[in-house]
Amino acid sequence: MRMYDIIMKKRNGFELSEEEIRFFIEGYTKGEIPDYQVSSLMMAIYFRKMTAKETLILTQAMADSGDKLDLSAIHGIKVDKHSTGGVGDKTSLALTPMVAACGVPVAKMSGRGLGHTGGTIDKLESFPGFSTGISNDTFIKNVNSIGIAIMGQTADLAPADKKLYALRDVTATVDNMSLIASSIMSKKLAAGADAIVLDVKTGSGAFMKTEEDSFALAKEMVTIGKNAGRNMSAVISNMDQPLGNAVGNAIEVREAIDTLNGKGPEDFTELCFTLGSRMLMLGGKAGSEKEARERLHEAVDTGRALDKLAQFVKAQGGDERAVYEPDRLELAKYRTEITAPVDGFIKHIDCDEIGICSLMLGGGRETKESEIDLSVGLLLDRKVGDKVNKGDRIAVVYSSDESKTGPVSERFLNAYHFSDEPVEKQTLIKGIIDGHDL
Ligand code: URA
Repeated sequence: MRMYDIIMKKRNGFELSEEEIRFFIEGYTKGEIPDYQVSSLMMAIYFRKMTAKETLILTQAMADSGDKLDLSAIHGIKVDKHSTGGVGDKTSLALTPMVAACGVPVAKMSGRGLGHTGGTIDKLESFPGFSTGISNDTFIKNVNSIGIAIMGQTADLAPADKKLYALRDVTATVDNMSLIASSIMSKKLAAGADAIVLDVKTGSGAFMKTEEDSFALAKEMVTIGKNAGRNMSAVISNMDQPLGNAVGNAIEVREAIDTLNGKGPEDFTELCFTLGSRMLMLGGKAGSEKEARERLHEAVDTGRALDKLAQFVKAQGGDERAVYEPDRLELAKYRTEITAPVDGFIKHIDCDEIGICSLMLGGGRETKESEIDLSVGLLLDRKVGDKVNKGDRIAVVYSSDESKTGPVSERFLNAYHFSDEPVEKQTLIKGIIDGHDL
């Protein structure tokens, strides 16, 4: 088989066979096929697209390119959750203890990633002493005994995707639906869960800016997972403004704790209940959405979900007292209030810009080497549709460096747009795609 022929076949619009797809993924992972040929194939795929069959084979070939987690030693149906990411997305922090408290085992391997804030692992490290550097044995033991464990990525999951994504990033071939869906799903398939719930974000702060693209991506990923034998659901949720009120690391952990205490922001709480009910249903812990919601509410109202977070933090070396006394999670010392410049209604927030404010404060990383300041962040008091009077506080900036508060506040205010006319609140849940309906 020759790479030249595979490129030409796709360039001419034909469907690639399983042997051809596996040939190029295996050859590329081993370094036997050069970047220039794979770039050319990516561009051909970009223009000619891939069929559902090709997309599934590509996903499986990438999932097979490295280690695969074997979660068979964990009792029960393992349900994973994945978000395509956005500003203020601290969902895993509150959702995983909620579902674990309802009997769904949570066994997650997470990376740090790049972004406006740290990833789940960084955020969890706001708990003094917390470590994700646990052994495989401890990981399995903790999931079986307390129902939840999260470890840093040790296994080499889907290395073909790592190489391909880096190549797509510099060859203008990222935004092809089959390539995005196979990239995300290859990592999820390799992570070993029986069922997967996807949170596909849509809007100005999301990877997918339009609802049409977000629904198409969700459908594509649910189809791949289903065809690979996994039970699947995808929730399409709003990212036209930050999720909840907190953006940062320790500050997001505090908001997740508030939510587990039943005092979280309405949108964030609702997203946790929507995703959580799908996880309970796929995990065999509830027969209907109504029953799942009741179980999740019960776990929050009785304090069992909060206690689950405390058990989890303690089991991984963290100071669990901070779960009950969140003031122990350190916030930066310089606090600046941002106030409304006019009377009116908040019409629109440039969501990405709020993420960039967090990055400017040092709350995220642009390169793998960057250090993160877990104590910095932003707390939004007002969001789209809220009425404000000139001078009302709309946000607080937490900074470790006084000289950053001015530029961040200015950028923040430029991201807020006001109207004299009343503005409708945004809809959080745009739709749900369940694998059994496809
Ligand atoms: N996230 C991924 O993991 N892969 C893509 O291709 C796009 C977003």
